[in-house]
Amino acid sequence: MKNGELLHTGPIGVFDSGYGGLTILEKFREQMPEYDYIYLGDNARTPYGTRSFEVVYEFTLQAVRKLFELDCPLVILACNTASAKALRSIQQINLPQLDASRRVLGVIRPTAECIGQLTQSSHVGILATTGTIHSESYPLEIRKLFPNITVTGEACPMWVPLVENNEFNSPGADYFVQKHIKNLLQKDPLIDSIILGCTHYPLLLEKIKQFIPSHIRIIAQGDYVAQSLQDYLRRHPEMNERCSTNGTCRFLTTESKAKFEESASIFLRQDQIKVESISLE
Ligand code: DGL
Repeated sequence: MKNGELLHTGPIGVFDSGYGGLTILEKFREQMPEYDYIYLGDNARTPYGTRSFEVVYEFTLQAVRKLFELDCPLVILACNTASAKALRSIQQINLPQLDASRRVLGVIRPTAECIGQLTQSSHVGILATTGTIHSESYPLEIRKLFPNITVTGEACPMWVPLVENNEFNSPGADYFVQKHIKNLLQKDPLIDSIILGCTHYPLLLEKIKQFIPSHIRIIAQGDYVAQSLQDYLRRHPEMNERCSTNGTCRFLTTESKAKFEESASIFLRQDQIKVESISLE
């Protein structure tokens, strides 16, 4: 749809490379149950964390196009890797051509905004995918807002596969969880707050807690991202009016329906969800 034509009204689109964005969707539905949502997981091509900038950008743009076709006026990239590698280009290059009246937002900025009130030592750690860490998006965003905060990152390339393969509670997960926490705290022993900068990681929270000293605050981003979206919709009534409110939620995956249904139920702690399989190109 081009500028000047009909303004679309429809569900809020929520996108992730796989299941991780369900931890964000869950918080949206808790805090804003009245809206309609479409969740899209690119499960067939997950993980994104080890892929190049070009590939993550291409895949994410395909997902945004699909959610626009499905009438979403607003799309949230509920994936740190996609937010780090694709969001800016989509906002600056693609959105003006696709439909300048719609919006695509990410999860890194809202998480960076909350950190100023949470750290006492002004030393913050980030655990995230290799892509997010290498992009330097968290240090850049945090320094823009809080120049006195020292930000140290640690890439955890095995954590998403552990979650996607439902191995996050297994004894085998201990090794990889402990290893990266130890590395992070060795790099900066003054860290008092650690951001889980990947939407898959809340599933590893119980394991992570076992290996992090109790004085360190662990920040899972779901609540902050949901508060930020609520605030955005309050400040943008013209967009709020375009987000439909029948309290529905549709699930789309690029993988098989059966596989998504089984795993997504674990993430959402609910017995049955109905899923549609789609392709992205
Ligand atoms: N949930 C994605 C994130 O927040 C995981 C990325 C991946 O697919 O590796 O970064």
